[in-house]
Amino acid sequence: MKSIPLFLMGCGGVGRQLLQHIVSCRHLHAKQGMLLRVVGVCDSKSLLVATDVFTKDLNDSSLMEICRVKSSGSSLSMLNGLGESQIFTNMESTGKALEIAGHLGRTTGLAVVDCSASSETIEVLKQVVDFGCCVVLANKKPLTSSMEVFDKLVSHPRRIRHESTVGAGLPVITSLNRILASGDPIHHIIGSLSGTLGYVMSELEEGKPFSQVVKAAKSLGYTEPDPRDDLGGMDVARKGLILSRLLGWRLNLDDIKVESLYPDEMGPDKMSLKDFLANGLQLLDKNIEERVKLASSKGNTLRYVCSIEGTRCHVGVQELPKNSALGRLRGSDNVLEIYSRCYKDYPLVIQGAGAGNDTTAAGVLADIIDLQDLFS
Ligand SMILES: NC(=O)c1ccc[n+]([C@@H]2O[C@H](COP(=O)([O-])OP(=O)(O)OC[C@H]3O[C@@H](n4cnc5c(N)ncnc54)[C@H](OP(=O)(O)O)[C@@H]3O)[C@@H](O)[C@H]2O)c1
Ligand SMILES: *[C@@H]1O[C@H](CO)[C@@H](O)[C@H](O)[C@H]1NC(C)=O
Repeated sequence: MKSIPLFLMGCGGVGRQLLQHIVSCRHLHAKQGMLLRVVGVCDSKSLLVATDVFTKDLNDSSLMEICRVKSSGSSLSMLNGLGESQIFTNMESTGKALEIAGHLGRTTGLAVVDCSASSETIEVLKQVVDFGCCVVLANKKPLTSSMEVFDKLVSHPRRIRHESTVGAGLPVITSLNRILASGDPIHHIIGSLSGTLGYVMSELEEGKPFSQVVKAAKSLGYTEPDPRDDLGGMDVARKGLILSRLLGWRLNLDDIKVESLYPDEMGPDKMSLKDFLANGLQLLDKNIEERVKLASSKGNTLRYVCSIEGTRCHVGVQELPKNSALGRLRGSDNVLEIYSRCYKDYPLVIQGAGAGNDTTAAGVLADIIDLQDLFS
């Protein structure tokens, strides 16, 4: 039986779903001759680790207990004394995490999985790479900070997987890497990479007012608590940056032109969320309605896309033919069109749910399994 030790950072919606997938796939993985051994889990404040990471791990009932405690909004530190495990808090926890990664990385190997939404994991990730650990990311921040951090993390390409950073579980990164590996030059990538904005733009096409669509998206749970986090486009820009860097472009986040769907004066620092929803939003309706109509008169439709062409990446609203893959988009799916020598007149199209805890965690799990050849 091949054993894959695993350390999880972040047990929010995605991290917990990953633990659940790991437990429910035990039988499947055993049939394939694999055992995933979760040796440690941390949240923003605490770390829970097996007492001896070489011989013990957090068993399935402990993993389920972690999920239960974290779903109830409590901290991991509540789990003091759980099974054969120890708790470390705050200052202590980073040091302990690095100690474990140092031991396991140099011996059995260790998969360090980042399901946090934080930049604070970057320092740990940089170090574990030097210890020989593998890195699996759902978190976009580590790949979208400086070029130096990016270079470091991808310095051993066989040891990093980050499929869920773009399009959740959709095979976006894998497909790009296969095209690149075959020497097929990619000319253009254009995609709707936000489920929220995909939904918003396709509803606008039906003639609904922007303000109403955004509020509906919020009540359907498609948006962040403050919808401006989606409407600003920064999350899409991060995905665009990851794709651009994969293509070899040495860009930073501020090299990407990002069009926000709300003006500066309605930003979170200038207008409360309540005021934005009650008054700000509807001031934007008329302008957007005119743009929708103008596009429609030309047989086009508006999509909020990330477009990478040449060495440039920009993010914002574009008019696209109604009868293209992007133009046909309805609802909250992600759609990515890739144009290359092999996919010239008609692009390679990847489409499907691009968010959600389940699909995202499934993408992370598939990434971990993909690393199995590095373990014994
Ligand atoms: N949900 C999706 O549909 C989706 C899709 C694609 C990608 N992603 C990405 O997946 C990641 C996780 O998303 P999520 O929805 O699960 O987020 P979330 O619910 O906000 O959970 C984040 C978790 O990370 C923990 N955390 C924060 N800072 C940390 C640190 N310094 N070290 C270790 N853990 C830390 C938090 O701890 P506390 O519990 O103590 O706050 C929390 O448990 C994000 O980067 C997100 O962008 C999500
Ligand atoms: C993901 O998990 C979080 C935390 O459990 C939950 O609030 C959210 O509704 C879930 N999202 C989806 C799309 O299921």
